[in-house]
Formats: sequence, structure tokens, C-alpha cells
Amino acid sequence: MIRLATAADLPGVAVLERALFGAEAWDEAALRAELDGPGRRFVVAHLDGTDEVVGYAVSMSLGDVVDLQRVAVRTDAQRGGVATALLDDLLEHPGEADRMLLEVSAANRGAIAFYARAGFSRIDVRARYYRDGSAAIVMRRALLTHGDG
Ligand SMILES: CC(C)(COP(=O)(O)OP(=O)(O)OC[C@H]1O[C@@H](n2cnc3c(N)ncnc32)[C@H](O)[C@@H]1OP(=O)(O)O)[C@@H](O)C(=O)NCCC(=O)NCCS
Repeated sequence: MIRLATAADLPGVAVLERALFGAEAWDEAALRAELDGPGRRFVVAHLDGTDEVVGYAVSMSLGDVVDLQRVAVRTDAQRGGVATALLDDLLEHPGEADRMLLEVSAANRGAIAFYARAGFSRIDVRARYYRDGSAAIVMRRALLTHGDG
């Protein structure tokens, strides 16, 4: 159900980006930069028996921090555990990082609830972070350090 993304997935992911993120959406060039960028892990979720992508997630590891760049699930596939499976994959591949950080719109109550349930705590706020002027909540989750299993 979860696999590494390929370039062939990017047009479909771009459609989901526009539907889910509007003005903040990544276009195909931005998605390509994520696919090829250093430290990135870009995974997609597809329903069993099909190759239709219903969700995707991207992380970026740099030293002892891994940033969660994106996690998103097609509206009609939400609340089925897809984002949890995507996030679990990224958490299992943190590189050298000992913590994961993310930014989420203060207006995005569903995503904030998802991250809280996944063990993230609010640590800060960035005012006027998004194009529409809304603030970002910064959240953090500790990871098992190497040697802890
Ligand atoms: C946030 C998002 C990724 C969650 O994806 P999902 O596949 O529906 O999440 P899951 O099914 O794994 O949810 C796991 C748990 O998180 C919590 N949760 C998820 N979405 C929630 C919501 N909208 N409201 C409240 N709690 C929510 C619930 O506790 C849920 O468990 P439950 O369904 O048994 O109650 C999805 O709503 C989404 O793509 N939103 C639009 C894009 C976005 O905002 N991405 C995050 C910012 S990058």
C-alpha cells in the first residue's frame, strides 16, 4: 500500500496538491525538486489492487532533524488510516534525526488533530507564515535515537 514515489506519480500528485492545498500547492516542478532533493523521502499510498495514488508524504532529513514537508490524502480516502501509514513509513526512515518537526496552518484543525494523535506537540507559532496571512503552528515529535532499537 505504501511505496516510494517515482516521476510517473507526479502528475497525479499535482492534481491532489491543487485540490487539497489551493494557493499553497506545489506544481510538478516543485514536486520533482522534492523527489530529487537531498535527504528527501517521498512515498505514495495506493489502494490494494490498483496503482491509483490516494495519498503521499515527503520528509527531508538534515542532520539531527527530519522535517515533515507534506502529508496529504484524497478527500474520499480520508479517515481510513492512510496518512497514519504514510507517516509511519517516514518515522521508520528518519536518517540520523532524533526529532521530527512540521509546520501546519493554525486554521487546519483536522491536520492539527491528526498530528496530535500521532504524538506531535505544539512548540511554537510562526505569524503570517502562509500566503493568505495565516499563522503556522510548529509541532515536534521525538524519535527513537540510533541504538534504542
Ligand atoms: C490531515 C490528513 C493528512 C489526515 O489524513 P487521514 O488519512 O484522514 O488520517 P488518518 O485516517 O490516518 O487519521 C488518524 C487519526 O487522526 C485523527 N484525525 C485525522 N483527521 C482528522 C480530522 N479531520 N479531524 C479530527 N481528527 C482527525 C483521528 O484521530 C484519526 O483517527 P480516527 O479516524 O480513528 O478518528 C488529511 O485530512 C488531509 O490530507 N488533509 C488535507 C491536507 C493537509 O491538510 N495536510 C496536512 C498539512 S501538510
